[in-house]
Amino acid sequence: MSKIFPPTDEAIAQAAVFLAQGELIGMPTETVYGVAANAMNPDAVAKIFASKGRPSSNPLIVHLSDASDLGQVVADSIAPSILNQVKKLSPYWPGPLTLVLPRSTRVPDIVTAGHSTVAVRVPENPIARKLIRQCGFPLAAPSANRSKYISPTLASHVEQGLGPHVAMILDGGPCEFGIESTIVRLDGDHATLLRPGIITREDLADRLQIEIRDVPEVHSESTDLIAPGMMHQHYSPRTPARLLDASNSEAVPPHCGRIAFQPLPFNVASKYTVMDVLSSTGNLSEVARKLFASLRQMDERQLEMIHIDRCPEQGLGLAIMDRLRRATVGDRS
Ligand code: TXA
Ligand code: MG
Repeated sequence: MSKIFPPTDEAIAQAAVFLAQGELIGMPTETVYGVAANAMNPDAVAKIFASKGRPSSNPLIVHLSDASDLGQVVADSIAPSILNQVKKLSPYWPGPLTLVLPRSTRVPDIVTAGHSTVAVRVPENPIARKLIRQCGFPLAAPSANRSKYISPTLASHVEQGLGPHVAMILDGGPCEFGIESTIVRLDGDHATLLRPGIITREDLADRLQIEIRDVPEVHSESTDLIAPGMMHQHYSPRTPARLLDASNSEAVPPHCGRIAFQPLPFNVASKYTVMDVLSSTGNLSEVARKLFASLRQMDERQLEMIHIDRCPEQGLGLAIMDRLRRATVGDRS
């Protein structure tokens, strides 16, 4: 029987009871669906890692219902310069922005994978906020997919990947943004973009009035400390996938699918076994919203190959290309 429930008051109350009992819940957010547990209960959080097949070295994001609860999870001794940066970014909370901040020792080690920082987010989705408020404790929640597979943007994706592990899934419909939150680490005098997302590098620079640093490309030990889990992780379909250049001159193998960001000329489109045009106008918000569901659908079609469009790496395009590069790891072209 399906574990997906419409987000009625009764269903949200039931989900809060399950969470208090140490169970896992599939939770909609405006970015992607999360698999949530009581962040303050190490045994409950351990179930998240087991359900996803996620290495214990990869820390989780803690979700609050309101920014005023930040003191529950960050260090009491947090520097005023860091708090000042948090304040400058307050227009994005609630919203699709995760901040990495010095942690409180109240947050269990399993959540932060033993690091001295904690990743925190205040989601805007009303179902998520209501659920966290009713729980009265913060929720640890990674994206609700098996480790390394594509993030879920529909309740049915959560059931497909993690169904047996969750007590229930609250159905919030398709996620509003469709890709994971922007993650930025704040250090008072500087800020580092750990994962591009809906809140763009340009938005962050504008609010903080400083240069936004990138994670160094080298896979050094110090990089692992800054951005655990970001370097080798990819969100790949099982079908080989390849990024195309803009010329559309690529040879198309048999049984090939194409994810296009805008309509293609007939002579190109007709070479593909399956076509998915994500936007009639090439609108990148629409592309982001539909991208992961499209990748999952293509992956179910027994194709030899998936061809995917590129876009310029600025604004939201940076986040889209980040996800697509990870999805096409192994593509040597
Ligand atoms: O949109 C989102 O952020 C979704 C929804 C459910 O909130 N969550 C999500 O979680 O994408 P997850 O676990 O799939 O991705 C979180 C990323 C991981 O790559 C993890 O390594 C990184 O955040 N992270 C967590 N804590 C960190 C920390 N203390 N320092 C640096 N990176 C951290
Ligand atoms: Mg994830």
